[in-house]
Amino acid sequence: MNLYRAALALIVAPSLLLAVSYAQTATPPQPSAHNAIVNGYQSQWWKEAVVYQVYPRSFKDSNGDGIGDLPGITSKLDYLQKLGVKVIWLSPHFDSPNADNGYDIRDYRKVMTEFGTMADFDALLAGIKQRHMRLIIDLVVNHSSDEHKWFVESRSSKDSPYRDYYIWRPGKPNTASPTGFDPPNNYPSFFSGSAWQYDPGTKEYYLHYFAVKQPDLNWDNPKVRAEVFDLMKFWLDKGVDGFRMDVIPLISKRAGLPDLTPEELKNVSKAYANGPHMHEYLQEMNRNVMAKYDVMTVGEALGISLQQTPSIVDDRRHELNMIFNFDAIRINREGRQWKSWTLPEFKAIYAEHASKLDVQSWDTVFLSNHDNPRLVSSFGDDSPAFRVASAKLLATMLLSLRGTPFIYQGDELGMTNYPFKAIGDFDDIEAKNAYKADVLTGKVSEQAYLANLRHMSRDNARTPMQWDGSANGGFTTGPKAWLAVNPNYKEINAKEELADPDSIYNYYRRMIALRDHTPALIYGDYKDIEPQNTRIFAYLRILGQEKYLVILNLSSDPVSYSLLGGLKARTIVISNLPTAEKDLSNLKLRAWEARVYKLE
Ligand code: NOJ
Ligand code: CA
Repeated sequence: MNLYRAALALIVAPSLLLAVSYAQTATPPQPSAHNAIVNGYQSQWWKEAVVYQVYPRSFKDSNGDGIGDLPGITSKLDYLQKLGVKVIWLSPHFDSPNADNGYDIRDYRKVMTEFGTMADFDALLAGIKQRHMRLIIDLVVNHSSDEHKWFVESRSSKDSPYRDYYIWRPGKPNTASPTGFDPPNNYPSFFSGSAWQYDPGTKEYYLHYFAVKQPDLNWDNPKVRAEVFDLMKFWLDKGVDGFRMDVIPLISKRAGLPDLTPEELKNVSKAYANGPHMHEYLQEMNRNVMAKYDVMTVGEALGISLQQTPSIVDDRRHELNMIFNFDAIRINREGRQWKSWTLPEFKAIYAEHASKLDVQSWDTVFLSNHDNPRLVSSFGDDSPAFRVASAKLLATMLLSLRGTPFIYQGDELGMTNYPFKAIGDFDDIEAKNAYKADVLTGKVSEQAYLANLRHMSRDNARTPMQWDGSANGGFTTGPKAWLAVNPNYKEINAKEELADPDSIYNYYRRMIALRDHTPALIYGDYKDIEPQNTRIFAYLRILGQEKYLVILNLSSDPVSYSLLGGLKARTIVISNLPTAEKDLSNLKLRAWEARVYKLE
């Protein structure tokens, strides 16, 4: 087996070298057309690429209105190319009334006015292609905005041809209720309250898993599916390279919509996900759309377990290429409550990834996005003493675990959580609705609610990018950004980091380049060699004779560590603190030290 793998490694090595020379000779990157099998995996461009998520509202404002926009992103493409990322995931850029910052779409074929025009989108896409990068966009089709013309029609009358585009049900008669009804069942919304909204016009309720202004589309209606496939093709025909699919496992609803049991109510995502026709609809989408293009897809797999993951991503099933599983990123939360966690629990999740996903099922690696707090604040130590080292350690980990890595904007600068003080500092509908439901009703004290929200609020990740030390961090030339810029922008900003060879940004660059040139870090086997250690995360990535050892001290204390088992270091390929230590049986790791060794 090992020999077989070694031989394959030799076959693929030239193709990876070729990938490097593409960048140098300005030849457009090619999908892995060589059809190589590496360590049992079919090689693919989206397995080799590092993805960078742009949240357009907060990336860069080009016209001084305080809102990030598409020309702003275009103006920063050199920054992204220099970082070395090959794919940009753009959070929703479509026309929207912004009840949920663009995740409520009013027109799927129009650019949000604040973000610019279709010409601006085309210029952005052209700029990305020119730099040999690719663009994936957000597909938000579990629900639309209530201002989408389909819903406006749908709610107008029970006889509308669009009525069945959404999920309407009569309420349960209840003379004591102001409307005369109770909701059709006990489904809760992710954004507090019932998932049903009474509509006085036709005296029925519509389903909304998220905000009242985000009615769920009825995927059981073939016309809805055809509309979705059409809008996907509209963007693919423009040249986009795929989709991140918002809450895609929720599209198929349970037959008859029975009440959830008390047990199911404890984990609503799980109850809503994986409905009876989910696989059928994804396969239909794949046949009608993805199969006709060279694209990548990644599903936001709310409610899907690692055990269930291959049922969506196994390449023989023709559904999605990858999903985001939330076990690791949500290890610090129980529902909406922040909680402590241990390193062995965290490592066990990655061991489970490795055991549940085989060579047919590709993985993702991510620990932040626009729905979660800042990477360094939740998984590192954002105090002045350790912020830089711990941000670099996290970069080492994200870019050396097995799967396509996703970097969220600003994490490459070590941006931190925001020092929120009062509920008025927040923008997010989830936080505001929960405040009304929990604090204003006296269920939770204001102090406890805010203390928790400071850790977990989605707005932590949504504060504007910190480009330089000028007013508003150089994000906008206007007087005010839509959400306050973190006051630490004078110390933490892109301009400073680009100029400092030892910065977090430049460490990300080196780590991305290392992954690009090291097949073992992409396609190699993953093996945790210290599952029980409470401070050290140590794992191997092995491809034939190529063996790499990643050693991370995930603590703010120095740790002496000896690796038994006779592994011998040949070279240190990267480290976040200067070191020459090569005797693996006697290592002295400083707080948040990260090293990658190539082994004999
Ligand atoms: C997941 C998105 O990432 C989040 O931002 C949004 O609020 C919900 N889906 C609803 O679209
Ligand atoms: Ca703007």
